[in-house]
Amino acid sequence: MSYKVAVIPGDGIGSEVTQEAVRALQQLSSRPGLSIDFEEYPYSCGYYLEHGVMMPDGALEALDESDAILLGAVGYPGVPDHVSLWGLLIPIRRTFRQYVNLRPVRLLRGLSSPLRDRGPEDIDFLIVRENNEGEYSEIGGRLYDGTDEAIAMQSTVFTQKGVERVLQFAFDQARRRPKQHVTSATKSNGIKHTMPFWDEAVAKFAEHYPDVTTDQYHIDILAAHFVAHPDWFDVVVGSNLFGDILSDLGPAVAGGIGVAPSANLNPTREKPSMFEPVHGSAPDIAGKGIANPIAALWSASMLLDHLGETTPAADLLNAIEAVSGEGKVVTPDLGGTATTRSLTNRVLAELKS
Ligand code: NAD
Ligand code: IPM
Ligand code: MN
Repeated sequence: MSYKVAVIPGDGIGSEVTQEAVRALQQLSSRPGLSIDFEEYPYSCGYYLEHGVMMPDGALEALDESDAILLGAVGYPGVPDHVSLWGLLIPIRRTFRQYVNLRPVRLLRGLSSPLRDRGPEDIDFLIVRENNEGEYSEIGGRLYDGTDEAIAMQSTVFTQKGVERVLQFAFDQARRRPKQHVTSATKSNGIKHTMPFWDEAVAKFAEHYPDVTTDQYHIDILAAHFVAHPDWFDVVVGSNLFGDILSDLGPAVAGGIGVAPSANLNPTREKPSMFEPVHGSAPDIAGKGIANPIAALWSASMLLDHLGETTPAADLLNAIEAVSGEGKVVTPDLGGTATTRSLTNRVLAELKS
């Protein structure tokens, strides 16, 4: 099959790791039966400083023409984060109704967890993050700024449709996994309206999926259990903010943020989905060529999988894991001295064209 992939390298290490993911896709694209055309878009904080907008009019329409979007990361000192992210990343997630943010947490072979005595058999779960609503709402505002009466307010919005569609995805995923278990992140003891609404929807799904076991934890103790008992989890579903926090914590117990992939999915496939590392633009190491490319390469594997190209997707992930398992080419975040380029080269050598 042939596909059009839109590439938004973005800022900082976003562009450094994205070019490596594109190289991997290019190599696979030389296989008979698979052809990928890339269209690169320069939208970033650099673009904003030049043009006053994160992306021009018509950008979303152009992206809509693609089969999938590959993104690096957006956000850089000099442009306020709420300007850069609400100018690019969040509009893409919403316009294309990428209502699931799927973030696998799995300890790759050869990587070590900071948790004592935990190996790959203990850390293998999926975070399913609601990606379009919840705490990330535009409803709110500020009053009396600059006075000692200043107030900031922000509403959380859960819609029945929005909650149900992400739960449906989570339960369907669980059904396909050996443990068939869903854990829901809640906080219905303290958050009075939205979280009980979420819990009621979870209870309804639990009833409709008798083959899937379900439990729920308040987000505070759930965060503790991620560290104390990562082996308890199979599919963890949470609201936008809870899922965001859990999806940095999960990777921290599974080799670090540099190896954590993500897929912003529109499961209906009416609109393109977007694939990006969980991490950001890492200004502290940008420009040094030492960012770990594994999160971006794994995200590219998720992109192929979403397009139905399951063999190249699996081959790419296997090549990543063969290299991590070898433990010879390791970037500084995981204690080695390899560069972004040299690690990718090793993966590409492992990956049959
Ligand atoms: P970050 O993920 O960029 O960095 C956190 C820490 O992890 C840093 O010490 C960084 O060096 C390290 N790190 C991250 N990725 C790494 C990699 N691949 N290899 C090695 N080390 C890596 O998070 P932050 O510092 O909170 O955010 C920096 C900027 O990125 C902000 O502007 C933020 O808003 C933005 N951001 C964007 C996205 C996105 O576009 N999806 C995601 C998260 C943060
Ligand atoms: C992520 C990021 C974004 C989010 C930020 C940069 C808006 O942290 O993709 O996890 O919170 O969704
Ligand atoms: Mn995040």
